[in-house]
Amino acid sequence: MKIATILGTRPEIIKMAPIIDEISKRNINQIVLHTGQHYDKEMSDNFFKDLELPTPDYNIHVGSGTHGKQTALMMRGIEEVLLVEKPDIVLVQGDTNAVLAGALVASKLHIAVGHVEAGLRSFDMTMPEELNRRAADVASIMYFIPTEESAINLLSEGFSHKNLFITGNTVVDACFRHLDLAKKRGFEDESLTGLDIENMENIATLTMHRAENVDIKERVVNIIDALKELSDLNIIFPIHPRTKKTLENFGLFDELNDLDNVHIVNPVGYLDFLLLTSKSTLILTDSGGLQEEAITLDVPALTLRYNTERPETVTAGGNILVGSDRQAIVENACKILDDKEFADKMKNAKNPYGQGNSAKLTVDAIEDYYDKGLLDIEAPEDIMDSFTRKMAEITENVTVGEFEKTENALIHMAYDGDKMCFPADDLNLKGMMITYDKRE
Ligand code: UD1
Ligand code: UDP
Repeated sequence: MKIATILGTRPEIIKMAPIIDEISKRNINQIVLHTGQHYDKEMSDNFFKDLELPTPDYNIHVGSGTHGKQTALMMRGIEEVLLVEKPDIVLVQGDTNAVLAGALVASKLHIAVGHVEAGLRSFDMTMPEELNRRAADVASIMYFIPTEESAINLLSEGFSHKNLFITGNTVVDACFRHLDLAKKRGFEDESLTGLDIENMENIATLTMHRAENVDIKERVVNIIDALKELSDLNIIFPIHPRTKKTLENFGLFDELNDLDNVHIVNPVGYLDFLLLTSKSTLILTDSGGLQEEAITLDVPALTLRYNTERPETVTAGGNILVGSDRQAIVENACKILDDKEFADKMKNAKNPYGQGNSAKLTVDAIEDYYDKGLLDIEAPEDIMDSFTRKMAEITENVTVGEFEKTENALIHMAYDGDKMCFPADDLNLKGMMITYDKRE
């Protein structure tokens, strides 16, 4: 079997690292293709070093540009590589342009696509990421899904539960694997050692780069106004290159940089950043990965967005959506600082993203599909089944697997009287309502 992994940005490198590692531990043939969307050393190379990843086999150097141009260049470059390498499956991760380009190109070449971190939905179609992740889901055949909530998003859109694997998120694998190392090693980045963070109190780690925040001046101004009021916090802000550029264009960079409580630094490596977040009293962010890391590291998060595709973090109690609303940012940050009970409740929120074995579960599922020949994509030879869409209330003990076999049916959804449940093969359906396709 040959697995091709496509990645191109900082979070994809971090979240694919445990899977790349797992594939090489099992001696499976693999290639890694870097799109070159992130190219600065501090957005790319440093992560290969910190995560001890081999240099990618290919880098197609697409660089920065408009969405259309960047995605088109990726598609052209990825297609050339896939035609030569002919992998059995292509893995894409998350919601960047690489996911869209990789999934479209591979699926049109009839190469199986596995979407890592599938099923997330912000329901905000103005976000490029929402379009990317939805399109990638349409083009995939295996879905590695962090939580049951995200799996239910896919079921609601009509995907078969047979191809959905609830694996947790590899961000937890990466976090658990590297935190001790980061603690033993200590800070290495000079911009952090220079700040004497070891002896700092009330640290808030801030990151923002989301287009819908940093490209809108009014939102940036509101966030800066909130930061000005948070004078009891030491706000460490490793600034994303996109954000640096837009702050400079808006003429706001110096104003922010001059604040005594805000320390702007260049993006830092993964180990430095893990250590920084783990020492933080709170996290202010619009990053996807950071919302997950915050709840993994038991650090309260205030998310500078109006919606999230990670609602589990909010319902678990570890994350609050504050948008770019000055008052909401200030009030919640002060509450975390001053109200121990409130802060403890946020810290103790249960991590919904698994045990740190997500890479193992992902590669197990891929090997199983390969062994069963399910990665082979061929034009159908059988006349399609006709089926009727049905609903039933189940009164006896029967599992999903048993029901599907005896009834020659595929269950879409099971309702336990209160909420939708994921129809895992061993779920006992007694007392549930189900919807299903009955093959004639
Ligand atoms: C991209 C992803 C976003 C992800 C983020 C992770 C898409 C649509 N967006 O956003 O989902 O959360 O990565 O960080 O795929 N730049 C540099 N150096 C670099 C890379 C970028 O200076 O190494 C600057 C360029 O001016 C570029 C801007 O940052 O125009 C934005 O980069 P881009 O790759 O388009 O999107 P991100 O904002 O990084
Ligand atoms: N990160 C890092 N150094 C930094 C800022 C972030 O290592 O200076 C890591 C962080 O640990 C997380 C990932 O980058 O795993 C998040 O990436 P980003 O916020 O760029 O993208 P998103 O997750 O929003 O797609």
